[in-house]
Amino acid sequence: MTDALLVLAIDLVRRAGALILAGRGSAADDVTTKTSPTDVVTAMDRAAERLVVDALHAARPGDGVLGEEGGETQGSGGVRWLIDPIDGTVNYLYGLPAYAVSLAAEVDGVMAVGAVYNPAIDELWTAVRGEGAWLDGRRLGVDRRSGPEVASLDQALVATGFGYGATRRRSQAAVVATLLPEVRDIRRFGAASLDLCSAATGRVDAYFERGLEPWDLAAGGLIASEAGLLVTGLSGAPAGGEMVVAAPPALHAALHDRLVALAADAGP
Ligand code: IPD
Ligand code: CA
Repeated sequence: MTDALLVLAIDLVRRAGALILAGRGSAADDVTTKTSPTDVVTAMDRAAERLVVDALHAARPGDGVLGEEGGETQGSGGVRWLIDPIDGTVNYLYGLPAYAVSLAAEVDGVMAVGAVYNPAIDELWTAVRGEGAWLDGRRLGVDRRSGPEVASLDQALVATGFGYGATRRRSQAAVVATLLPEVRDIRRFGAASLDLCSAATGRVDAYFERGLEPWDLAAGGLIASEAGLLVTGLSGAPAGGEMVVAAPPALHAALHDRLVALAADAGP
């Protein structure tokens, strides 16, 4: 079953990706805001989600769907899809080539399949639970990362992201301000799914963020864990809205423990 789900996921992220890429030039023409004045949604976010949801309903009418822009449709079977039609909407609005369509399928409550597609540079990450993760068909793993092997925090290139609300940002900024002198450097790319895929690939050593929504984490989290990373919350909690820490086993404890000491999962 997961093979069929993966084939469908790949087809849909590619189709939605082609749609948003074609609409990029007019992205600024129809923009509204959601949770804050800087939390934007474009007409293409809605159109891409519509494309995916309609295709899922046609192909697999019994499945549930949770989409960032359209909310939740309950299914009658064990499969639920999670979709972020454009992760990195602000990058999309500005024409920064770091945005992605993220689609994952959960089977009986367990994340089973994930696909993250960046149409701006035509890169596709995929994963199937228990089978592995791939970038454009190339198998990912902790022994085949694109960057150096890093086991200490002071050598680590760490990606993170920030929420849209000013209050949360203030506390996230305080965490990053403390961490910045203690690591190789910090990266803020602006799309959580691509951050997780970058960590999976070794383009950064690790990633953490507080405040992710399920559709931000679903596909990228599976890709990172299938690439051999530990993907957790803090102090035994699972990865989720409170905190996501994704790092190779050799680095995870150091970053995790530092984030615990900074109470990075507390506050607004
Ligand atoms: C956002 C991006 C960003 C992350 C935010 C997300 P959106 O998603 O992934 O990198 O820091 O937490 O909300 O709004 O571009 O879909
Ligand atoms: Ca989005």
